[in-house]
Amino acid sequence: MSINTNLWNRIRYSCWAPIYDLIALPTRPMRRRSLTLANLWPGERVLFVGAGTGLDLDFIPVGPTVTATDLTPAMLERLRRHARRLGLAVDARVMDGHALEFADGSFDVVILHYIVAVIPDPVRCLREAVRVLRPGGRVAILDKFAPDDGPLPLWLRLLNPLASLLATNVNRRLRPLLAASGLRVVHREAAALRGFFQIALAVKE
Ligand SMILES: C[S@@+](CC[C@H](N)C(=O)[O-])C[C@H]1O[C@@H](n2cnc3c(N)ncnc32)[C@H](O)[C@@H]1O
Repeated sequence: MSINTNLWNRIRYSCWAPIYDLIALPTRPMRRRSLTLANLWPGERVLFVGAGTGLDLDFIPVGPTVTATDLTPAMLERLRRHARRLGLAVDARVMDGHALEFADGSFDVVILHYIVAVIPDPVRCLREAVRVLRPGGRVAILDKFAPDDGPLPLWLRLLNPLASLLATNVNRRLRPLLAASGLRVVHREAAALRGFFQIALAVKE
């Protein structure tokens, strides 16, 4: 069985769901930073793709309309509970990030946190994000990426077979993915581990 599939993603993230929040605890400062850069405004329509258990909801200001999608029902079930605890109204739907069930231009902001390195076809996911954004809308990306240039570092080549089996690819490069999406990058920064974790903010022209 190929591991770069939605089926495998649903299986493995159903297994991770009960302990995901604990494992992802160190990502909190990066989420806060990315969402600060995304600069969400009251009244804006915000879409989370591959929203997981909803850890980002802690950093949402009061006011935007939040829609959260994910392939794995067990992750979304936790997100719904988390939103209830926070008193947030979130429209949470099981959905494939390769084929978003929304009309063109439905959102002002799309958040792609830790999904670009996980989803089987990241370019398709990014193009879907672009499609559902209004012109001038923003995309915030946070994930693990290989350096844009040069050969893949040895440690990533060694790590990738196990990492991509269990949780995530670690050999994807952000620059070509962004170029293929047609987005205009307005900001990029290293978020942690010498740029292995990266944040990007991009705009739909
Ligand atoms: C590493 S988790 C990230 C969750 C959340 N965005 C976060 O920042 O904590 C990856 C998530 O992507 C979801 N996922 C995997 N493939 C997907 C797909 N094709 N469409 C939508 N979500 C997907 C998984 O179910 C999982 O919840």
